[in-house]
Amino acid sequence: MRQAGRYMPQYRKLRQRHSILDLCHSPELAAAVTLQPVERLGVDAAIIFADILLPFEPLRLGLEFKAGEGPYLHRPIREASDVERLPSFNVEAELGYVMDAIRLARRALPPDVPLIGFAGAPFTLASYAIEGGASRTFTKTKKLMYQAPDTWHLLLQKLADLVGQFLASQARAGAQALQLFDSWVGCLSPDDYRTHVQQHSKRALDLAAKAGVPLIHFGTGTATFLEDFAAAGGDVISIDWRMPLDAAWSRIGARAIQGNLEPVALLAPAAERDRQVKDILKRAAGRAGHIFNLGHGVLPETDVAAVRAVVDLVHGG
Ligand code: CP3
Repeated sequence: MRQAGRYMPQYRKLRQRHSILDLCHSPELAAAVTLQPVERLGVDAAIIFADILLPFEPLRLGLEFKAGEGPYLHRPIREASDVERLPSFNVEAELGYVMDAIRLARRALPPDVPLIGFAGAPFTLASYAIEGGASRTFTKTKKLMYQAPDTWHLLLQKLADLVGQFLASQARAGAQALQLFDSWVGCLSPDDYRTHVQQHSKRALDLAAKAGVPLIHFGTGTATFLEDFAAAGGDVISIDWRMPLDAAWSRIGARAIQGNLEPVALLAPAAERDRQVKDILKRAAGRAGHIFNLGHGVLPETDVAAVRAVVDLVHGG
């Protein structure tokens, strides 16, 4: 995840001339960025260049990426009337540029490199929609969840339907696997996940499953409710570095697993980085159904050569 991005010099060069939204809106540029890590790193799969927050444009929340600050919404969701008046829109029409980028990237990629489509999970999207940007404590999000459960469930239902349709459209355009990103779900207690979130992730994943391609269910900080997280769906469960891979695998049963290198290990001395990579491979023990990956996105400070070294180490043994 986030295998294209600011740590890559070629990406930074393009970003001097184009904003992140321009890159996403242009199918040609988005397809070109999608190919950069495949060529430079030798990874086994490509992930389409887009962003989980793009649906906020047709939802008219006023999405902007502020330099150095990250995403910012000019019209965040704060009350019932904001949720009720969210426009419904045609995904193929309003987000068609993502499907166009998928078609172009699929044609340009080597045939043996699968292309992954993705979307944000209802909870993580709701957290950005309500906070209006990034958050450390998710105070406004949880306050709405506790104070106005009907409004909360209406919002998550709308997001789940949107995201489920969006994922299925991406598969129809040529994405060969789909990833649902619940990046901030780990801020919840197990009880809150089960009561306020799980059903909506399940709805999004059930809709996406109709497309008939493998689904990767990504989360971080899920150690305390991994069984419930996995029960929401996904052919592959993605875990972060806060739990050992083998222990997590035994908790999700006969399913594939993705993970789980600590992203900061890519900034560590080579010996320590390689030790952590080998430990993950040892815990996977050559069993089928392990996608080696980071537990979360590549950090901007990362040296591309360190990422390449990890890819080569995983391929070599
Ligand atoms: O190659 C790839 O991985 C595909 C591209 C991709 C982006 N965003 C492009 C991007 C993917 C898979 C995402 C997903 C995404 N976006 C997530 C889920 C995965 C995760 O990391 O948890 C989330 C939470 C977002 C929301 C988002 N987009 C944030 C918080 C930011 C700002 C972060 C920062 O470091 O500034 C973005 C911007 C963004 N989206 C960048 C990229 C490469 C970096 C910013 C830039 O180019 O200026």
